Amino acid sequence: MDAAPANLAIAAAESFGTSLRDDVLAGLGAPRRTLPAKWFYDEQGSELFEAICDTPEYYVTRTELAILRANLDAMAAALPGGAVLIEPGSGAGTKTRLLIDACRPSAYVAIDISRSMLETGAAGTARLFPWLQVLAIHADYTRLDALPDDRLPSAAPRVLYFPGSTIGNFTPEETRAFLARAARWIGPQGSVLIGVDTRKEARVLEAAYDDSRGVTARFNLNLLARLNAELGCAFDLSRFRHRALYDPVAGRVEMHLESLVDQQVEVAGVLHDFSRGETIHTENSYKYTPDAFRALAASSGYDCRSTWMDAQGAFAIYLLAPRPGIGGASTGGSR
Ligand code: AVI
Repeated sequence: MDAAPANLAIAAAESFGTSLRDDVLAGLGAPRRTLPAKWFYDEQGSELFEAICDTPEYYVTRTELAILRANLDAMAAALPGGAVLIEPGSGAGTKTRLLIDACRPSAYVAIDISRSMLETGAAGTARLFPWLQVLAIHADYTRLDALPDDRLPSAAPRVLYFPGSTIGNFTPEETRAFLARAARWIGPQGSVLIGVDTRKEARVLEAAYDDSRGVTARFNLNLLARLNAELGCAFDLSRFRHRALYDPVAGRVEMHLESLVDQQVEVAGVLHDFSRGETIHTENSYKYTPDAFRALAASSGYDCRSTWMDAQGAFAIYLLAPRPGIGGASTGGSR
């Protein structure tokens, strides 16, 4: 194994909030069963997600990358040089590396719930940019209140980078809470560069979340495999099937796991009855028109400074700036 690069430091959050077990017991015990989407990303789930990004139907990653490539100079001009670039849910990092190359931040903070993805991605980025200070934080970023300020350049402006339409996996209320938390991380001089999927035809959206090669189906079913492996559950994966449905009123694609038969499954010592056709709701992917997303950002305390889109309007990248006074960080230095 290669030695860790000298410009990489690794930190772990003290608390990870709820555990997989707590979330599973609460979610499967509810009248409408749910499992939080954040638990998709064990090693196998992270690999399957990378494979989804390569499917012909999942236009999201390709389109965002193309927008980024076409507008890198404009983005670099709009963002401060020498910034601290913060990426929650850092994953594999192809887009981030393009951005780092163009914007030349002084430090990069990667935050991820998957330790293996975090360490591999952050080490790769640190090797690629030896001049960059890289801090990898193993944490559930939806629960992380503050960044370790003492380990970051104190005078540098902060830029939060949140690509991939991951924001769509939050409800609008959770999005507001996330943006409020982000305002505390970045301070009044900070900015947010965020990739968000747009609303489009149900046919296109449902195909993107139910690809013909069955990769997304395997990704969804892997959640049950994870529960079997980590919590000793007894899910028979052949007795569930993947479903993806677009709800045009809510503006979201819902992923579900549907029970194919009446069955009883032991989950962490508790027996659960699943009737045929009953589903476990595993993910929401909200889609926003540009006006709707800018309105949501405004109601979270941000002004939209720029919007970059592809010619078909299939995806958008927004540059947001916090309005003075949000996040309780209106005074002091550059943060
Ligand atoms: C990570 N996230 C933004 C993806 C999405 O599009 O909601 C996860 C995903 N689920 C199914 N396909 C991709």
